Amino acid sequence: MAQRILVTGVAGFVGSNLAKHFLDAGYSVVGIDNLSAGTVDNVDARVEFHKQDIRDAEVYPLFHDADAVFHLAAKSSLTGCLAKPLEAASVNVSGTLNILEAAWRAKVPKFVYADTSAEYEGIEEFPTPETRVRPIGVYAASKHGGAAFCDSYRELYGMNLTMVRYFNVYGPIRMLRGEPPVIYGNGEKRRDFIYVDDVNALHQVILEDQRSAGKVFNVGSGTNFSVNEVYELIEGLLKTGLKPIYKPDLPGEALVTLADITNARRLGWKPKVDIKEGLRRSVRYIQERVLDAANAGLGQPAGHSA
Ligand SMILES: NC(=O)c1ccc[n+]([C@@H]2O[C@H](COP(=O)([O-])OP(=O)(O)OC[C@H]3O[C@@H](n4cnc5c(N)ncnc54)[C@H](O)[C@@H]3O)[C@@H](O)[C@H]2O)c1
Repeated sequence: MAQRILVTGVAGFVGSNLAKHFLDAGYSVVGIDNLSAGTVDNVDARVEFHKQDIRDAEVYPLFHDADAVFHLAAKSSLTGCLAKPLEAASVNVSGTLNILEAAWRAKVPKFVYADTSAEYEGIEEFPTPETRVRPIGVYAASKHGGAAFCDSYRELYGMNLTMVRYFNVYGPIRMLRGEPPVIYGNGEKRRDFIYVDDVNALHQVILEDQRSAGKVFNVGSGTNFSVNEVYELIEGLLKTGLKPIYKPDLPGEALVTLADITNARRLGWKPKVDIKEGLRRSVRYIQERVLDAANAGLGQPAGHSA
């Protein structure tokens, strides 16, 4: 029987892409999301979808026959976490603990936690290895709290647990917003961008390669670009004429992120899609959606121009 993968945050950007990837690879997928940020339109029709909150004990029965859990549900917006720190802690720390407990009770053989490069906010070593973290902002601290409970369950109960520390994951759905881009600071912060298909491929390697057990993997490209450079690349492709809106820096954010991806490369994975190709693919996807909508007589969807 096909392996059964449980994905939390399945209606979000990374979770919806990951679910589709595993379905295409022949796995079956159970998805949980409370739709607080994601939308059901993102969820592939083949997913067994449950609209539930990760803090709720009602999710426990869903874990019984799962072969692996990918825990991605989180308050993922930096500004949202700053505005509502208690809610961030409730979802990212208590919610994670509830999912760990559910997986532990059901003896799920593999658990993968979606951690973040924000864990490195206070570290000035580039490229940054997985060895040390220093979270500063509310989002980073809350994800760190979730990660601490993952470590606890691994140590206490010997759970087969892997952490993936995403840098800046990008791809089509994220760009379908249709508003001028908002840039915090002067746009000169440098970020390590990784295309979502490369992230999916690494997750499958982590699932299938037992050497991933108990380890942490940076998920980045090992190169970085300034936010202004990325804006110019996107604008060069889309030619919207939309200028970015610059807002004051968010507190706690690192000036530079750059992943040391030696550990992930050791599993035989490497990023295949560079930023120019990734942006081209994303733009092509958006343009096809606009054409589809126009052909269906629906006019242009609200997100076509950015
Ligand atoms: N996208 C990135 O570049 C990036 C970078 C670093 C880390 N991450 C981590 O990866 C994961 C996925 O990120 P994303 O970009 O897809 O975020 P996202 O916001 O698009 O998806 C998160 C999903 O979790 C759901 N959710 C939130 N609270 C919930 C709750 N209480 N119960 C059930 N579902 C809930 C939301 O509705 C949303 O669909 C997150 O854990 C995030 O911290 C993402």
